[in-house]
Amino acid sequence: MKQLLAFAVITFLATLSVVSQEKPVLNVIPYPSKVILRKGNFKITKTTLLNRSDQLSQECSFLNGLIENGIGTKLGLGAGESNVIKIAVDHRLKHEEYALAVSTDIVSLSGGSPAGVFRGLQTLRQMFSDQVEVDSGKLKALSIPCVLVSDLPVFDYRGLHLDVSRHFFTIEFLKKYLDVMALYKFNKLHLHLTDDQGWRIEIKKYPKLTSEGAWRTFNNQDSACIVKSKENPDMAIDPRFIVKKDGVKKYGGFYTQAQMIDLVSYAKLRHIEIIPEIDMPGHMMAAIKAYPYLSCTGTSNWGKLFTTPICPCNESTYDFAEDVFREIFEIFPSQYIHIGGDEVDRASWQTNQACAELMKREGIKNTAGLQSYFINRMEKFFLANGKKIIGWDEILEEGISTTAMVMYWRSWVPLAPLAALKNGNRVIMTPGEPLYFDYLPNKNSLYDVYNFKVIPKNYPESGVRNIYGAQANLWTEMVPSENRAEYMVFPRALALAENLWSHHHLDFNSFSRRLLSHYPRLDLLAVKYRLPDLENVITERVFMNRDSLYFDKPINNMKLRYTLNGSIPNMTSNELSEKLKINHNTAVTLGVFAQGDTAIREIYKINFKKQDMAEAMTVSGKHAGLIGDYYKFLPDSLSTGAGKKVDSTFIIKTISVPKTVDAPTFQIDFTGIIDVPQDGVYTFYLDCDDSGVLSIADRLVVDNGGMHSSIEKNGQVALKKGGHRFNLIFKEGGGGYKLRLLYSFNNSSPAAIPSTWLKH
Ligand code: ACM
Repeated sequence: MKQLLAFAVITFLATLSVVSQEKPVLNVIPYPSKVILRKGNFKITKTTLLNRSDQLSQECSFLNGLIENGIGTKLGLGAGESNVIKIAVDHRLKHEEYALAVSTDIVSLSGGSPAGVFRGLQTLRQMFSDQVEVDSGKLKALSIPCVLVSDLPVFDYRGLHLDVSRHFFTIEFLKKYLDVMALYKFNKLHLHLTDDQGWRIEIKKYPKLTSEGAWRTFNNQDSACIVKSKENPDMAIDPRFIVKKDGVKKYGGFYTQAQMIDLVSYAKLRHIEIIPEIDMPGHMMAAIKAYPYLSCTGTSNWGKLFTTPICPCNESTYDFAEDVFREIFEIFPSQYIHIGGDEVDRASWQTNQACAELMKREGIKNTAGLQSYFINRMEKFFLANGKKIIGWDEILEEGISTTAMVMYWRSWVPLAPLAALKNGNRVIMTPGEPLYFDYLPNKNSLYDVYNFKVIPKNYPESGVRNIYGAQANLWTEMVPSENRAEYMVFPRALALAENLWSHHHLDFNSFSRRLLSHYPRLDLLAVKYRLPDLENVITERVFMNRDSLYFDKPINNMKLRYTLNGSIPNMTSNELSEKLKINHNTAVTLGVFAQGDTAIREIYKINFKKQDMAEAMTVSGKHAGLIGDYYKFLPDSLSTGAGKKVDSTFIIKTISVPKTVDAPTFQIDFTGIIDVPQDGVYTFYLDCDDSGVLSIADRLVVDNGGMHSSIEKNGQVALKKGGHRFNLIFKEGGGGYKLRLLYSFNNSSPAAIPSTWLKH
């Protein structure tokens, strides 16, 4: 309650009675640290005055823009003790902290700085009718509840990232991205401006970086997107970035320096800093194709995993890198600039004469040391120019100075952030799970992002102070359009925003409720977010006589349309507005649309199968548990695992990966009998990383095969009371180790299979 004392207006509020202090009472995301709702409302009308200092003219014109959208006019400036909005900086508050007091007479907003005021304005904005997001001008008044809010962020770095190299995005789109970021109090936009697939920023000294490096012929990922676009138009390559160059079809684009300078000011008005990334020494194929002397071999090709990097052993490489960054420093005022430093194929350095000489001269033992030499030398150049470097966590490997910021991404190197903190570096958390937003969202993603522990358990207090915040990354190999980018990022970004801002009082149920009221605002902002999941979708459905299909819509702004011939539903397809009766084998393709939107957002394929109940076998004399046959083998043989020698066999009473299993890649066949207690249709939910295939009574129930991150799939089977052959094949291709099988019967909640049901 301390910050409330700072309210200049506390006295006139003292007479108002408190309505509620306990439950979230404002539909604000991220939820403020302290909220006290009072009785009554303040009404902004054409006669309301705005009282502010000159220092806040930009913030107030932002507010006035919203108000004009709502009531048709901007507020005039003036003072007074009623019908006035007072906005001020209060230096007793921290930088992004703000305090908002709304009574029936006065709205008072003070921030620790213009940034703090701006964050407070976003809270106010979310209390306004969402009509302020569009130029409606039709409202008589904007009514906001009387309230006291005091608020400040837990983390200072609250970021989103966008890869504009793999696929390109317009400046207008970047502005829209910044607009939505501002609404949710993000303060950093990390732009991944260069990569193998395209150089996207004009560098005046090296014009070929963009005249050649910004253009490519379609690559494998483009082709994969094109295949997917047959089902989902948002997977089509954006035609605005396809050109004919010398008779050849090319994809690409780049930003001029003037455009980027304009974008930086646009972000600054929203108190968001743009952090550019020029990724070196790897991920440089586009640059090397334009300037071949940059690599040790005079060319760049794909190696096993990554492309040939630039050569850290030639002075001309440093001249180039420094020239490029000098121009970057001029465009981007941020103190930190990202140099990448990830995923380097160092084979070309191994055989290079200049590298051999450099290693000898500098006493560098191996090519990893050369990579570190490059980054450290560049860091000195950054520091000499008043800048600091951010690098992906690989920069730690052979030593880095403490002034570098480490961006943690490799989920499979869990100790990297701790190593960085021990070394004295500051850390930004962006681990693939759950912060790579290019991983397809599913029904658990919001929860996972919301509850992601920015500070891992048991971290030393001294280190914790150096965790600067977190960021979600959108790599765009498979994100060819702006709609698709929005689908991948929203609403996950809202969960991250609240996680980072309100980290000490998270409540996912409350967030989920408030989120519902944000969808209409996002609609008005034309954000093509991922619609909420339909509840309890069973994709392989089994029935004995007849069945039906119907879903309650989680939000109003949804239309469900379906086809029965396998085609993708469109605007002319039948609407699922009442129960669809099913009495024979039927494949339903269900499309989810937002109201007034012609593009499909989500596709569910639901397969109905008519089945007789499988006859049961006797289980008397059987032993407890399933048999687990464990095969160690390499990924290459994953598809042909069966038939190989069993490494060990065990009896298992709960379906999971046994703790004793330590091979990085393996297969376990779980076989035996499942002894079910009643006749009927059973549902099974199989969540695995990687592959899992479940058969019961020799019927395929869930096919969750393939190498993939954790996904849940489900399916049903009709069984008579008693024993049925059970077979679950699980394959681990490395990394995930996730295996969870749940069941439900007669609409019960999914639960673990009782161990008494499992026999052999
Ligand atoms: C990365 O995903 N290569 C940082």
